[in-house]
Amino acid sequence: MSVNPGKILPYVDYVEAMRKPLLSPAMWKWDDIENQLYSSDSDRRHLVTLGHPELEEEASAVHDLAIVIQVIKPGEKSNLHRHGPWAIHFVVRGEGYTAINDEKYHWGFGDTVLTPAWTYHEHVNTSETEDAILYTFQNSPALSRSNNLFREEPAGLPPKHVLQKDDPNQSFQPEPPVTANNDVTNWK
Ligand SMILES: [Fe+2]
Repeated sequence: MSVNPGKILPYVDYVEAMRKPLLSPAMWKWDDIENQLYSSDSDRRHLVTLGHPELEEEASAVHDLAIVIQVIKPGEKSNLHRHGPWAIHFVVRGEGYTAINDEKYHWGFGDTVLTPAWTYHEHVNTSETEDAILYTFQNSPALSRSNNLFREEPAGLPPKHVLQKDDPNQSFQPEPPVTANNDVTNWK
């Protein structure tokens, strides 16, 4: 195996390499987000991510942050899982709880919950009739860029490195949500 020689840069090149164009303002209208959340081509988890149009990484709202919006159907809960990014969840609709390390954090409209990095958690919609919607900020793009994005789902399986490209053994498919009785839910 040949040695891959590293670059040695003068200071001015280092400073120049750190210079990045400023992002333009961007806006995502709630009507568009909601339509996509409930559309047939939304992914089967009823989850969408906001991407800034000027960023190569289409799943990033700014360089280091992702915004994920997710519907949890009545009686549905996500799989118990954990991941490297922290997550800050804003509740914009419905009621339920997030269980973090076996502690239940009950939430309703306007509440904010922090899931720290690498902690087991699951989200549960306790309503029998109303959808819950969580608006989540995550530092996943920052971890992805440093090849340090890991996820364990469902809990108990070996953690997977999510974004190592071109390696079929490292691919990641999210598990479907389940009902409170642990039945896999009907997605649509
Ligand atoms: Fe999560």
